[in-house]
Amino acid sequence: MHALQWGGRFAGAPDAALLAFGSSLDEDLVLAPFDVATSRAHVTALESGSILAAAHARELRAALDRVAAEIADGTFAASARASNAEDVHGAIDARVRELAPEAGASLHAGRSRNDQVVTTLALYVRDRAAHGADLCASIAAFALAEAREALTRGTLLAATTHWQPAQPILLAFWLEAVAESFARAAERFDRVALDARAACPLGSGACSGTTLPLDRLAAARELGFATATNNALDAIGNRDLAIDLLHAIARALGPASRASEELVLWCTPAFGYARLDDAASTGSSIMPQKRNPDPFELVRGAAAAANGAFAGALASTTGLALSYHRDLQETKALVLRGSERALAALSAFASAFDYVRFDAARMSARAGDGYTVATDLADALTLGGIDTRRAHALVGARVLSAEREGRSLDASDLAALGEAAGFAGPLDAPLDAAASVRAKRTAGSTNPDAVRNALDALEASLA
Ligand code: ARG
Repeated sequence: MHALQWGGRFAGAPDAALLAFGSSLDEDLVLAPFDVATSRAHVTALESGSILAAAHARELRAALDRVAAEIADGTFAASARASNAEDVHGAIDARVRELAPEAGASLHAGRSRNDQVVTTLALYVRDRAAHGADLCASIAAFALAEAREALTRGTLLAATTHWQPAQPILLAFWLEAVAESFARAAERFDRVALDARAACPLGSGACSGTTLPLDRLAAARELGFATATNNALDAIGNRDLAIDLLHAIARALGPASRASEELVLWCTPAFGYARLDDAASTGSSIMPQKRNPDPFELVRGAAAAANGAFAGALASTTGLALSYHRDLQETKALVLRGSERALAALSAFASAFDYVRFDAARMSARAGDGYTVATDLADALTLGGIDTRRAHALVGARVLSAEREGRSLDASDLAALGEAAGFAGPLDAPLDAAASVRAKRTAGSTNPDAVRNALDALEASLA
């Protein structure tokens, strides 16, 4: 069957190369199951609007069921490609006309690919946003469980800023931070999935509605939307949901890429804080000794690509007049390609994260390196009534001499600081990482009790 959905007013045949250039079939095959749902709902709108006889509606539903089965068993892709259709929507229409020639000829009544594309895309966005939310929630739950374990063991870590040793924290605190960021990413996805249930564009036709009495509400309800869209011209050119999906994806790959960056460094021999299991590591074709944490590097790269897809999709709609313009086919390609790869990266991050083995002893042993307790010493001076700038300078001077002497801060520094401040005895402040962590007082801090509270609160919000 010839899949072109137009032709009567043309005297000449299309240029084959330009027709091929205009095809989005390879990209939008992933939309096939969602187009079947959209097409079924359109049958409902036609039947319930008394435009289609019940017998024809039955035939169309049966044909669409068959197409759904062919999509599921993988045979649809080949027949779609053979049809030479411009897009998956045309390919499904062609297959339905093949399976039910008489009824099939009426499937497109009152419908344009314009409302078909945007409705199908909304269903895709809903599905992928729900998938993204699940992935992020499970990463958050995993990080949370790891955090509980690390809290029990009291594993310490030198938090860095600018990659320089900053302050001692608990590994549980780092893991909880990862969990927090993924919980927020899951919420973003949930919001997008919810928005993709608001208003159904189907029945908008080409750009102004249709003279056929379609039952738009019946179609909208069948597809799980609360209602039908208000304005056909806006509805068919609106790509907000697709852009929101890419935004949510970029928001999720952000924390994935940041945690990946840290884990890549932790897995270097220089850090040695973690080891990625063989199952997730790769080797070198020339250097026999190499073990590379590739999945995390790929996640970083995929995050960059996802940002590009988001920016590209947003840009592709900018400056377009209202209504449908073929540029929007490029938007669709960016959304579909970008989303599929990025969600795969998110899922890979989840798997690889599970293969990380922390070296708790090494991490804890280094948590005090680099004078990470210095801030606590300055805080203790402040608590004793010394103004903060002076406290900072006094401790800084002790760090300088300790560094010159090649030692860490010790009891001699506490004695000297107590004396400089005019206290009765040595300064009372933590000298090691474990004591520093216990000394933290604020809610949301790395104090073990605060971390436990934060974990409890996050767990409750995830449930
Ligand atoms: N193939 C196009 C797409 O996938 C649909 C084109 C619909 N409209 C049109 N007037 N050509 O976005």
